[in-house]
Amino acid sequence: MRILFIGDIVGSPGRDMVQEYLPKLKTKYQPHISIVNGENAASGKGITEKIYKNLLEWGTNAVTMGNHTWDKKDIFQFIDNAPYMVRPGNLPAGTPGTEIVFVKSNGKEIAVINLLGRTFMQPVDDPFQRVDELIEIAKKRTNIIFVDFHAEATSEKQAFGWYLDGKVSAVVGTHTHVQTADDRILPNHTAYISDVGMTGPYDGILGMEREAVLKKFTTALPVRFEVPKDGRTQLSGVVIDIDSSTGKASKIERIQINDDHPFFS
Ligand SMILES: [Fe+2]
Repeated sequence: MRILFIGDIVGSPGRDMVQEYLPKLKTKYQPHISIVNGENAASGKGITEKIYKNLLEWGTNAVTMGNHTWDKKDIFQFIDNAPYMVRPGNLPAGTPGTEIVFVKSNGKEIAVINLLGRTFMQPVDDPFQRVDELIEIAKKRTNIIFVDFHAEATSEKQAFGWYLDGKVSAVVGTHTHVQTADDRILPNHTAYISDVGMTGPYDGILGMEREAVLKKFTTALPVRFEVPKDGRTQLSGVVIDIDSSTGKASKIERIQINDDHPFFS
């Protein structure tokens, strides 16, 4: 079982990269399942129904979210009719949306889970306690479990990876938008990376117009962040190989597509 995961899609530059490269990545890597993080897919904050549907049309099997899940009002109109969208599982009981999405491939099911970190983030429920509850639910149907841990601090992400080593197939970090080079298979066969990186503008700062970010750092004035409309773009992802009978991961490989790391088919 091979899973392709594409990191945080930022605005239209990110969506354009997915539309262009997802078919090429599928040809190259032949994944059984393709998952994307879509929490920044609509102008850098949130997602709309149209974009969610586009991501599925372009070949995505599940869309994970994060702290920007609710940023577009549209979300409340469609999240309960979006069976392939996974919102963070450690939000209060009764929050709209789905906490585990099961995706089928070749008669096997994969559970996709999304949790938020708490360090330097908005307060949410304990992701460590909550993930155990979600794993218990997932294990009734499958032992292939994919976790997107949407968190800021590398320490919390590493702690989460080690906590879940041997309990799930993969823990991939998202949210910080910079790909880390610590992709590895943990000793009990869980694939891990602290952050997959983002998909969108290549010459911005974390996907936003760099002039505004620079102004924020060099003045005390309020600034508005926008996704650059033009310019070079990038895609960040990982490919993970998992034994479909045991759920154990055997390989994780990073993907970067940008002008400094061109795509080779
Ligand atoms: Fe985020």
